[in-house]
Amino acid sequence: MDDSRNANWLARSQAAVWHPCTQMRHHAQTASPSHLPLVPIARGSGAWLYDFDGRRYLDGISSWWTNLFGHANPRINATLREQLETLEHVMLAGFTHQPVVELSERLSALTGGSLGHAFYASDGASATEIALKMSFHYWRNVGRPEKAEFLCLAGSYHGETVGALAVTDVAIFKDAYAPLVRAATVVASPDFRLAETGETPADIAHRAAAALEAHLVQHGEHIAALIVEPLVQGAAGMAMYDPEYLRLARALCDRYEVHLICDEIAVGCGRTGTFFAHEQAEIRPDLMCLSKGISGGYLPLSIVLSSDTIYEAFLDESVARAFLHSHSYTGNPLACRAALATLDIFEQDDVLAVNRQKSAKIGAALAPLADHPQVRHLRQRGMIAAFDVETDAPHFSRRFYRAALDREALIRPIGNTVYLMPPYIVSDEEIGHLGSAIKGALTESMRTTS
Ligand SMILES: Cc1ncc(COP(=O)(O)O)c(C=O)c1O
Repeated sequence: MDDSRNANWLARSQAAVWHPCTQMRHHAQTASPSHLPLVPIARGSGAWLYDFDGRRYLDGISSWWTNLFGHANPRINATLREQLETLEHVMLAGFTHQPVVELSERLSALTGGSLGHAFYASDGASATEIALKMSFHYWRNVGRPEKAEFLCLAGSYHGETVGALAVTDVAIFKDAYAPLVRAATVVASPDFRLAETGETPADIAHRAAAALEAHLVQHGEHIAALIVEPLVQGAAGMAMYDPEYLRLARALCDRYEVHLICDEIAVGCGRTGTFFAHEQAEIRPDLMCLSKGISGGYLPLSIVLSSDTIYEAFLDESVARAFLHSHSYTGNPLACRAALATLDIFEQDDVLAVNRQKSAKIGAALAPLADHPQVRHLRQRGMIAAFDVETDAPHFSRRFYRAALDREALIRPIGNTVYLMPPYIVSDEEIGHLGSAIKGALTESMRTTS
């Protein structure tokens, strides 16, 4: 078969690759309404992905929320080439290196020095597990082993490994593995879509915080940590909430001696308008998880930043009191170098300021949809814009996805929630392209579902 054609890679991928988060049969049944196209990508450039047959797709969701400055970014590429010639990898137990030290220092500085130590892993779910283990072990080390339970928000998503599923409240990912999981307690989400007539997002935040307090009053002495996705619960369907909830949760965590873990894996690195989403509530967490965008979308890298109080509780002569957790590629120099190049771009290009204008353009591109009879809760926070589609037709998300691909756009709804989360280098013209693709795909998927 011809290596330069889509058909070749489609057939070989379906025969040999088990794709993530996918019912593989949906790739095979091309004639079925539930068909999920598999797209072989030959190369990427800027916000665009190109297949082998000469078609292109504008990456409206930053390749699962990872890519910040475009595919094959020349600046990140150049930095990585240099690192590749210097040091590709060394184990981080007993060794250290320039990229990991510099990255740890710069991330700590970005938290105002409040999170002084950085622990490294590869994927978001590992960062979640590390943060949970650190909190649990901290309480043991300080003589409070009874503080061993976790709280998460309704609809929360913190990854899909067995430990991370404990604090993930998305049935489709969790139910099949329920017997394996030591589930956390789920408390009310401050999702402002839950507002009743006359209620503001801040009212919902207060209502959810009251529910959290009611739980802590009764069970606080057994709770190690509350884990949250600050401001936007991504996998819940871009559920957005008022920063007031984070302020209230921080105060409650302080009062009931519970760690606050901010999972900034999806919302960190400028996605919501500030470098870290929690900054909008003027609080700091005790532990923070980072991944996805931190390496510019280049390499698997996750980081848990911890407060000095937590870090110091592990210092002792006893090895058993240490944090005995590791992964082979922990602190990989190439991944850390990609993260440093990413932070350089933030500084050199004043990305947060530029994004404020892009965010306004994205808002303007989607604004006409507010009047669409089936569109609900059009919402935006920084570089994330979303709306829900009122339809009970089956396979809406797959139909929409296919219709968007036909319009040269990669937009992959979560259930009935359509969202945009483009790379920050997206141009005004490309934002216009995404807006038109959404309008066209919405019309087509409505037509085919009615
Ligand atoms: C908030 C949040 N936490 C954790 C994860 C898990 O990250 P990974 O897929 O890298 O394991 C994700 C992934 O989407 C996420 O959005």
